[in-house]
Amino acid sequence: MIEIETTESVIGARVRNVSLGQIPDLDTVKEIDIALERYGVLIFPEQDITPRQMINFSSALGDLELTELEAARLPDFKEIFVVGNVGKGLVSFSPANEEQELEWHSDHIHHEIAARASLLYAKEVPDVGGDTLFACMYYAYDGLTVAEQQTCRKLEMIHSASGLDHYLEKQKLGDSNSLSGNRKHKEVVRPLVREHPETGRRGLYFGNQVTIGIVGWDDAEAGEFIRHLTKHACQEAFQYRHQWSAQDAVLWDNRRVLHAGTPYDVENTRRLMHRTTIRETAPITLIDE
Ligand code: OGA
Ligand code: MN
Repeated sequence: MIEIETTESVIGARVRNVSLGQIPDLDTVKEIDIALERYGVLIFPEQDITPRQMINFSSALGDLELTELEAARLPDFKEIFVVGNVGKGLVSFSPANEEQELEWHSDHIHHEIAARASLLYAKEVPDVGGDTLFACMYYAYDGLTVAEQQTCRKLEMIHSASGLDHYLEKQKLGDSNSLSGNRKHKEVVRPLVREHPETGRRGLYFGNQVTIGIVGWDDAEAGEFIRHLTKHACQEAFQYRHQWSAQDAVLWDNRRVLHAGTPYDVENTRRLMHRTTIRETAPITLIDE
């Protein structure tokens, strides 16, 4: 049995008796799946693992996405996405400083196949900064009025990497930070409210930068709506803040939580993380009512 120790926050739990260095048996996978749905974020501290072990462990949870972005690809391990300021260039989901907006998102919401879950493993972390925030979108949805919930259930959001480019431009971080170069990006439309395939629980599904519009709305109105929604949905009461130690591995449920990086001193400290991304398996459709 996996041992769960909850955090002080509304989401998040630590699991200390699972080694990511070993391929989990079917019972353990089932328990991890259940715990992931229940707590949204699972923290596995003190994991000393190789890229190969990380891939093997993650593959037991589902099919993995391959890294498209050249700057984030780990040579010989396409399943791993490298985040940080060490290596080929800066790959970051954090604002440049405390004054800038956060980038709340669910991984791969703007890809054809979204991410069901992500596993992020800390190899090197700064002493201060570079925390990761997670916000629970069940609480976000439940915290809306019935009328707002009804409005949200009808909305279809437009997601695109151009929103991320724009975010980076706004911060004048330059090309080395661009997750997607200068390509013209395709747009993906998804419902704002989704039901968790395991439990039927409803949650909000969007990002405050990657979501660039709402079907049928003009851009200014959509921008205003998304700003308001983010303020509500990602409020501190719905959050877990992860302060990383090297060798922490954190698994999160992209169906249930949004996440955002926080700033760190990119010039003078090192941050190096490996991520595997587990593909979505369930359709994400408007709720039939
Ligand atoms: C990610 C991500 C946040 C961070 O790897 O998907 O959003 O704090 N990371 O690095
Ligand atoms: Mn992410």
